[in-house]
Amino acid sequence: MCDDVPLSAMADAAGTPLHVYSRAQLGARVRELDAAFAGYPHDLHYAIKANATLAVVREIRNHGAHADANSGGEIDVALRAGFRPDQIVFTGVGKTHDELVRAVTLGLKAINAESPGEMERIDAIARAHGTRARVALRINPDVDAGSHPHISTGLRANKFGMTPAHAHGMATAMAARDHLHVVGLHVHVGSQITSAEPLRLGAAAIADLARALASEGMALEHLDVGGGLGIPYESGQVALSVDEYAAAVLPVVRPTGLRLILEPGRWITAPAGVLLTRVVDMKSQADGRWFVIVDAGMTDLLRPALYGAWHGIEAVEPHEGASIACDVVGPVCETSDTLGRGRELPAVAVGDVLAVRDTGAYGAIMASNYNRRPIAAEAMVDGAGWRVVRRRQTVDDMLQWDE
Ligand code: LLP
Repeated sequence: MCDDVPLSAMADAAGTPLHVYSRAQLGARVRELDAAFAGYPHDLHYAIKANATLAVVREIRNHGAHADANSGGEIDVALRAGFRPDQIVFTGVGKTHDELVRAVTLGLKAINAESPGEMERIDAIARAHGTRARVALRINPDVDAGSHPHISTGLRANKFGMTPAHAHGMATAMAARDHLHVVGLHVHVGSQITSAEPLRLGAAAIADLARALASEGMALEHLDVGGGLGIPYESGQVALSVDEYAAAVLPVVRPTGLRLILEPGRWITAPAGVLLTRVVDMKSQADGRWFVIVDAGMTDLLRPALYGAWHGIEAVEPHEGASIACDVVGPVCETSDTLGRGRELPAVAVGDVLAVRDTGAYGAIMASNYNRRPIAAEAMVDGAGWRVVRRRQTVDDMLQWDE
């Protein structure tokens, strides 16, 4: 079940693969994270990159969150979802001229600048448009997030941000510019972080710099500690609670007195989603285990292939009988197209529906048309009702850009 709806009925009606989200769960996650920081002035800016489906973003907005966009496309998603420009922060290591023009002319809450060159470009654009751009400096604190190397962003060798010393010099130099308003500092050390220390160190790096700037008479408005809070994908995996997260971040931010911005993505949406997929074939392996071949693959959920990520997989309507040892694999012509290796499933048969868990973040949004596979549909459950919120791509949709 997802809330009061049987998943098998959804798979029958909407087809598979199907991403399913719980409206109740999305709201509950936003409120729970918000409550953990209730004792300090803060804003949650949902990281749209985790799941940019409009119905999902709108639901998160309904619970009071603001937005973190990472591209021009995500700025448009945020606007169409109903956020005002002054509720959007804009991050990104390679912002184009057109994206910066849009960000500056919209008057976003903050453009998180990643380099001295980008600051100069923002300044020039703001001057050309006769406005003053609100910028924050992204710091690279040289902190190991302890996460998968592909999603760790806070080490000096990573492409993100500037050293604190560099940012200090920049902030001082930029303070005198008429068309730039340095409003904050930003840090994001990685994603799927399961211990407090990297998050604390990241926050401490910008808090220290804010204090140094304050002592030189430079007043900021906010500290943006990014996202990164991980979730337990496997039972027994230890992750931080929202209270532990707040206990790591608030003591370092509080002495600055500055408003806190958080950019959570995964923690809000991942557990609110499952991916439904149907078994299309079964065959035995030489060692007695099975291949359970399903109709969802790396084109619908890339995380296992790209990061070796683990997602729980369950039979929606398990049959009686002995469980099987198996690899759950997709249909794509890549050996990495494996959703779950070395799993134990109850007796399953061709035609059965499986649910892949915790796919609400970095699931549908990372889909591709590889092997010319149409993008899967997405549906939202609301109590005992549900509806398709993003229809399944057709072959005609997929080919419409081809000349
Ligand atoms: N803010 C910034 C600047 C970010 O780069 C990210 C994620 C977030 C916030 C949100 O982080 P979260 O709270 O979701 O950890 N595709 C990967 C995750 C990539 C995360 C990229 N940046 C995955 O499937 O694990």
